[in-house]
Amino acid sequence: MNILVCGGAGFIGSTFVRQRLHEHGDEVTVLDKLTYAGREQNFHDFADDPAFRFVHGAIEDPEAVASALDGLDGLDGLDGLDGVDGGNGGVRARASGPVEAIVNFAAETHVDRSIAEPDAFVKTHALGTYVLLEAARERDLRYVQVSTDEVYGSIEVGTFTESSPLQPSSPYSATKTGADLLVQSYFHTYGLPATIVRGSNNYGPYQYPEKLIPLMVLNALHGDALPVYGDGQQVRNWIHSTDFARAIGHVLAHGAPGEVYNAGGPDEQPNIDVVHRIIALTGASEDQIEHVTDRPGHDRRYSLSSEKVRALGWEPSVRFEDGLAETVTWYRENAWWWEPIRSGDYRSYYERQYGKALS
Ligand code: NAD
Ligand code: DAU
Repeated sequence: MNILVCGGAGFIGSTFVRQRLHEHGDEVTVLDKLTYAGREQNFHDFADDPAFRFVHGAIEDPEAVASALDGLDGLDGLDGLDGVDGGNGGVRARASGPVEAIVNFAAETHVDRSIAEPDAFVKTHALGTYVLLEAARERDLRYVQVSTDEVYGSIEVGTFTESSPLQPSSPYSATKTGADLLVQSYFHTYGLPATIVRGSNNYGPYQYPEKLIPLMVLNALHGDALPVYGDGQQVRNWIHSTDFARAIGHVLAHGAPGEVYNAGGPDEQPNIDVVHRIIALTGASEDQIEHVTDRPGHDRRYSLSSEKVRALGWEPSVRFEDGLAETVTWYRENAWWWEPIRSGDYRSYYERQYGKALS
């Protein structure tokens, strides 16, 4: 296939692109704004692939979207990766036919940032999704929206299905919900062949260290405090990013237009247990745990039923215990990836969020 992947420079998007290039032989164009979370370094092992193109631009910019879909018009592409082999030395023309599908990962993704500064969340999720949907409608393209279990809100007991009510709690999840509703309206009103995939909490290599698991791993390895929000008994349903990326590919290939598919991981864990596991895997000290002020409006538990996508033939393959150990090893062995983050703007974000400096 020939696919436009929006937000493909991020954690899950780049994992998806890697799979499409290496496992499916697809042709992939990435359109990405390169926010703090979008990194050309995530292309390090496929930047030179002739089937890969990168266009630097925002999904809310109709010209950037048109250029990524139809032509180049002088937009920036890869201009060489700092300290990384590869880089295609500028935008490469597409080799074969037109784009057939848009897969939209592009988003602001951190709940804490949405509480502190919601503006970009509204712009990217509402306006950005609208611009992509219009582009897909004009060109009659398939469309996959990458969404989240957070649109359902919190559940104390039981499990969310695709027909559970939408009750988002944060500016992040509320704007993601708005985007989902807009996608569904384009199916109902215009017949756009659109699907939505809602994932549970992802973890794995290349995740920006503002999120629980990479934050705790890197803080554990550096002897920094491990900041647990509130009592740490909040439960998350963990899915490895390679499993989630395959679920999205599976829905792209086999999903029915207009349908929503949940893709949850095989294991649920309270946050405090995740932190204990990370301490054991890194050799850190229990004394590093610090219970800090809870996140406002903090969702207590997420739990996702994935029966519908399983019926299409997908299932997760990585158990949390194994995936977490592999993820800790990846962070240990890939300081080239996280060192520029941990010594850059992330330090001031961390101080603002946690009221203390990283070592
Ligand atoms: P991420 O923060 O690592 O990456 C987001 C990417 O989107 C970055 O490359 C960023 O530069 C790009 N981007 C942001 N705004 C943009 C804009 N306006 N135009 C173009 N590009 C823009 O995120 P992630 O964790 O890889 O999440 C990807 C998607 O999966 C998101 O839609 C998120 O809501 C969804 N999701 C994430 C998780 C999770 O646990 N991380 C779980 C379920 C669903
Ligand atoms: O459920 C899917 C969602 O998972 C995605 O849609 C989001 O993009 C993604 O960020 C994630 O949201 P969470 O808020 O669940 O993830 P986060 O890693 O921020 O936090 C996980 C849990 O850990 C949550 O209960 C808050 C807690 N936490 C987080 C951080 C960063 C802490 O206790 N301490 C921390 O420092």
